[in-house]
Amino acid sequence: PQSFVDYQAENCTITLGVVESNHAGFTGTGFVNGDNAVGAGITCSVSNAAAAGPRSVEIRFANGTTTVRPMDLIVNGVTVQNIAFQGTGAWTTWAALTFNVNLNSGANTIRLNATSVNGGPNLDRLRVAAPADTQAPTA
Ligand code: GCU
Repeated sequence: PQSFVDYQAENCTITLGVVESNHAGFTGTGFVNGDNAVGAGITCSVSNAAAAGPRSVEIRFANGTTTVRPMDLIVNGVTVQNIAFQGTGAWTTWAALTFNVNLNSGANTIRLNATSVNGGPNLDRLRVAAPADTQAPTA
């Protein structure tokens, strides 16, 4: 089995933003360019068939400005933390940050919600790790 599942930002529910593909280096078919506004972001439906528990979530993003673009990380409606998305040097330079979150068994939502008037960074994808006990043994 896969050791992670990718959720492309462009396939998540977008609040105040659009899907674009004009900055190279994204995965999938594009990325989400949220509006430069508080409340812009994405909500991804994340299924977790295995037992509830901690999972690592990697967020791939680009911020071509030199200003931090903070967003709340909200899991199942609960704000876990505020993430400071630093500048990556260019809109075509993508970076990733990884966080541990607790997921329920079954359906979950992971939302990223901009908390400054600059909005968030451009968002490429969420990569959610499968629990270790579902990974294939390495021979
Ligand atoms: C530029 C860039 C966009 C980005 C935007 C922003 O317009 O091309 O991809 O989203 O800046 O500042 O958020």
